[in-house]
Amino acid sequence: MARPEIGTDLVDGTLGGGGHTRALAERVTPDGYVIALDRDPAALAAAELNLARMAVKLVESNYCELPELLEQMSVEAVDGVLLDLGLSSDQLADESRGFSFNSAGPLDLRFNPNEGEPAARLVNRLKAEALADLIYQYADERHSRRIARRIVERRREKPIETASELAGIVGAAMPKRRGRDTIHPATRTFQALRIAVNDELKSLEIGLKRIPDCLKPGGKLAVISFHSLEDRRVKESFRDDARLEVLTRKPLRPTDEEMAKNPRSRSARLRVAMRK
Ligand SMILES: C[S@@+](CC[C@H](N)C(=O)[O-])C[C@H]1O[C@@H](n2cnc3c(N)ncnc32)[C@H](O)[C@@H]1O
Repeated sequence: MARPEIGTDLVDGTLGGGGHTRALAERVTPDGYVIALDRDPAALAAAELNLARMAVKLVESNYCELPELLEQMSVEAVDGVLLDLGLSSDQLADESRGFSFNSAGPLDLRFNPNEGEPAARLVNRLKAEALADLIYQYADERHSRRIARRIVERRREKPIETASELAGIVGAAMPKRRGRDTIHPATRTFQALRIAVNDELKSLEIGLKRIPDCLKPGGKLAVISFHSLEDRRVKESFRDDARLEVLTRKPLRPTDEEMAKNPRSRSARLRVAMRK
């Protein structure tokens, strides 16, 4: 049985590896299309090949600039917008960008390597206190002070350049624990630095304010978030927005089967709201 169509004009605000864009493009009306955005030029280059001949328009952009983009494209409003926040599996696998802890590549962590400051510059530049505040604020890392102190000690010997160097320094700064950790000891520190260099929470806050005006009445905004800093912003913004009706009283979580197949989905939360 054919799956029901879900709209004419849809936006995937976070193209990544293109999985969601493809699934959406398969379900637009025959004259419809998906506008797919990403800040990362590499994601767009891959999609040019992988999604060729599909009903997809690719644009390098931050999703918080969607109103200007639709105006340029003479699109008044769309039926749905999807945001799947954070980093993609392709970014994680790319040794040259430093997203993965054991990568010998430069500690960069930017979604768009042409914008802003690489994470290595940040960890070599900030004073210990500012570094600790950042790691605490963006990742709730309770050992942030020890980690920042250790980073500052080590960079006096030589600047920190690679992801694996930083992961080693953070690991050594952590108190020894009995039993096995479920996550790598540097997970939170990397998350905090990534959020900072990409100014991710600012994009999310601006996007949540602006995107509802891009929706047709009945149009939906769906957001998948991966940590509480994001999820709290989505929940409160949906709840307090007079333009929106919340469709998910509680966020949707992946099933056990999905988590077993895709362990990175374990912390995902999906919330959906509809334009009144
Ligand atoms: C979790 S991945 C998306 C995966 C995608 N749904 C898929 O099916 O492969 C998130 C993507 O969003 C991009 N991104 C993050 N923040 C963005 C923003 N503010 N605007 C546009 N793209 C963003 C990242 O570069 C990354 O490629």
